[in-house]
Amino acid sequence: MAELKAPRGTCDVLPDESDLWIRVEGVVRRVCRNAGYGEIRTPIFEHTELFERGVGAVTDIVEKEMYTFLDKAGRSITLRPEGTAPCMRAYLEHNLKTRPQPVKMYYIGPMFRYERPQSGRFRQHTQFGVEAIGSPDPALDAEVVSILVDVYRHLGLSGFVVHLNTIGCPRCRPRYKEALVKAVAGWVEELCSDCRRRLERNPLRVLDCKNEACREISGNVPTIFEFLCDECRSHFEGVTTYLKALGLAYEIDPRIVRGLDYYTKTVFEVVHAELGAQDVLGGGGRYDGLAEDLGGEHTPGVGFAAGIERAVMALKAARGDSPGAEAGTGIRVFVATMGAPARVEGFRLVKALRERGVPCDLDYMERSLKAQMKHANRCGALKVVILGEEELKTRVATVKDMSTGEQSQVALEGLVQVLSGDGPGTAT
Ligand code: HAM
Repeated sequence: MAELKAPRGTCDVLPDESDLWIRVEGVVRRVCRNAGYGEIRTPIFEHTELFERGVGAVTDIVEKEMYTFLDKAGRSITLRPEGTAPCMRAYLEHNLKTRPQPVKMYYIGPMFRYERPQSGRFRQHTQFGVEAIGSPDPALDAEVVSILVDVYRHLGLSGFVVHLNTIGCPRCRPRYKEALVKAVAGWVEELCSDCRRRLERNPLRVLDCKNEACREISGNVPTIFEFLCDECRSHFEGVTTYLKALGLAYEIDPRIVRGLDYYTKTVFEVVHAELGAQDVLGGGGRYDGLAEDLGGEHTPGVGFAAGIERAVMALKAARGDSPGAEAGTGIRVFVATMGAPARVEGFRLVKALRERGVPCDLDYMERSLKAQMKHANRCGALKVVILGEEELKTRVATVKDMSTGEQSQVALEGLVQVLSGDGPGTAT
């Protein structure tokens, strides 16, 4: 039988790496809570119709990337490819308009897209995101952008750039689409096949094509700013005013159009040059028409989502991790034992230390003392307690400081207190 592997486009987060994930998630929770966002947990699967109506029938996601299947009762179910439509569904379903507005929510969880896997692009990825629903205020757009930037800042990441744009609204966008199609009409044959198709169904997407020839052609077209209606123009000015008030640097980038149909007005992406082809750390925007697309009443909203895999990749690149580098286990104390009676004593000691909240471990591989010391070092232990026949007899253990190499003698009776930081001669 062939060796079993995880499905293509999925990855395991091994214990070595999960510390970094937990750190990202912790920062997300803290930044979001500080800004008044509460966590929402929506189902991993939804009715397919939610994404067809929400994300849009002529998007890459709905056309070719959804994991869709019939359940045993014949309903069409889809593993969620994104979190905005589910959040808006929940807002409408639970009548959250009766709560204080805007309703501010954040989420962390897996999303599923049948994409061509490559570095930074997976078939199961994990997003953190926020959705602020119920207010058209441009200050909320700026708040959402600043939350995403704060997450990266608090993680110690630098070298990312905020790209900002507007894609207008159903009132002004059609005029721009028309102008765009007209502007590239003489070069249609030179566009890639994707863009030729886009030109008919979703011409704005021609602007964010990565193909060199397409970029050259779209580099000469008018920008949407000449076509915005007064409301969209003043909204965009509002967003930039609030971003400037926060001292948040951004670049206006008319190529940012986003790949989901629900966007209106503000769109933005945070890009990190070191990520390679999939260089977008996160992105979002305003979606004032989404609630109506889902059958609800007009309800404005704005939010973003960002991939945790990409944040972790950028953090590792910044840290200069070599691929496969081992991280410590988080163990602070390692109890090395020699002989069966000392092992029983050591087993008890480990349990007592864990009860006191000291991360600690002992050997389960019948290693020699030398090998136990080496193992303790590899685990990143700060102290090693050595217990053998002699130590049991004298009731005094040897404690080695792994960074200085210094050894001290500590009475067994006081060992737990000393190692947990309560006793005299604090050891950890
Ligand atoms: P999105 O741009 O499709 O937007 O995805 C958001 C982020 O999720 C991306 O910037 C990227 O970091 C990550 N991501 C997406 N697809 C993959 C993948 N296949 N592999 C790895 N990472 C991926 C949305 O999903 C919108 N719901 C964002 C939003 C929220 N807009 C308003 N509110």
